[in-house]
Amino acid sequence: TARPRVLSGIQPTADSFHVGNYLGALRQWVDLQATHETFYTVVDLHAITVEQDPALLRRRTRVAAAQLLALGIEPERSTLFVQSQVPAHNQLGWVMECLTGFGEAGRMTQFKDKSAKGGADRSSVGLFTYPILQAADILAYAADVVPVGEDQRQHLELTRNLAQRFNSRYGATLTVPEPYILKATAKIYDLTEPTVKMSKSSPGGALDLLADVKASVKRIKSAVTDAEREIRFDETNKPGVSNLLTLLSVFTGRDVPQLELDYQGKGYGDLKGDLANAFAAFVEPLQQQVTGYLDDPAELDRILAVGGARAREVADGTLATVYDRIGF
Ligand code: ADP
Ligand code: NA
Repeated sequence: TARPRVLSGIQPTADSFHVGNYLGALRQWVDLQATHETFYTVVDLHAITVEQDPALLRRRTRVAAAQLLALGIEPERSTLFVQSQVPAHNQLGWVMECLTGFGEAGRMTQFKDKSAKGGADRSSVGLFTYPILQAADILAYAADVVPVGEDQRQHLELTRNLAQRFNSRYGATLTVPEPYILKATAKIYDLTEPTVKMSKSSPGGALDLLADVKASVKRIKSAVTDAEREIRFDETNKPGVSNLLTLLSVFTGRDVPQLELDYQGKGYGDLKGDLANAFAAFVEPLQQQVTGYLDDPAELDRILAVGGARAREVADGTLATVYDRIGF
């Protein structure tokens, strides 16, 4: 029997993934390879919804792919590709735009959040319609499941609605995807401000996988904690210490209750020192592997070309059926 199919994507908009991306998404991408037919894409089309420098975008797209490979995405098991290499995303995206109500698109809260600074008038139409392109990304592969965090729930709901709308108008064609609720959806918080989610736009308190290891160790050692001494998980009253425990759990594989026992009678310095060591042990070989992929551009190109060809085959198949149903 066929394995359920999963599609997920990540934007090439930072010089490195951070540990929040790893815990919240990429770790699961790796695990899903054992149970699902996996399609993973570096979504460069989504990246240009806000202005990008061309040389930087090109470089970050490759670095993103290299990190995915180094983290354990295996090109023999997963279809790993760059979104812009598959024109069917845009072609199906147009069809989906024509099925989406203007008001329906306007209810997407992420546009309101992301356009808040410059205001809607200064945002690109692409930023407004990007959830519709995302729907096309998913539907093109007939994905059965899509891993979603809280921030993507509304977009998956739109995807489901559009698939159902197409199917009721033109006959059963598109697979309606289900959300794949991530296990242990713990969030990682900023090290300097542990009530704020770690993100690529939190420069001082993020832990980037590709950052200089010594600098990361420094960040861990100066992470904000609290005035108590007790090492226990309590996100309300001890957000900094709880965040360090979550991180240590990620990098040691020991669960948090076990860590609480292990650290009874120990101090924050011990916790930070052990986390620094565990983080370094994780990222040092990872960085070497990323460098290896980047130093062999022909091999990286080859991997992405194979993934792109496989992705086009599947997405073009969906598109052909969709066009036929529409009357093209
Ligand atoms: P950023 O928030 O840095 O802009 P993205 O929005 O590109 O990162 O996130 C890519 C993936 O990583 C998403 O699946 C998101 O849910 C996950 N993610 C991002 N930041 C965190 C975090 N601090 N903790 C857990 N998961 C996160
Ligand atoms: Na985000």
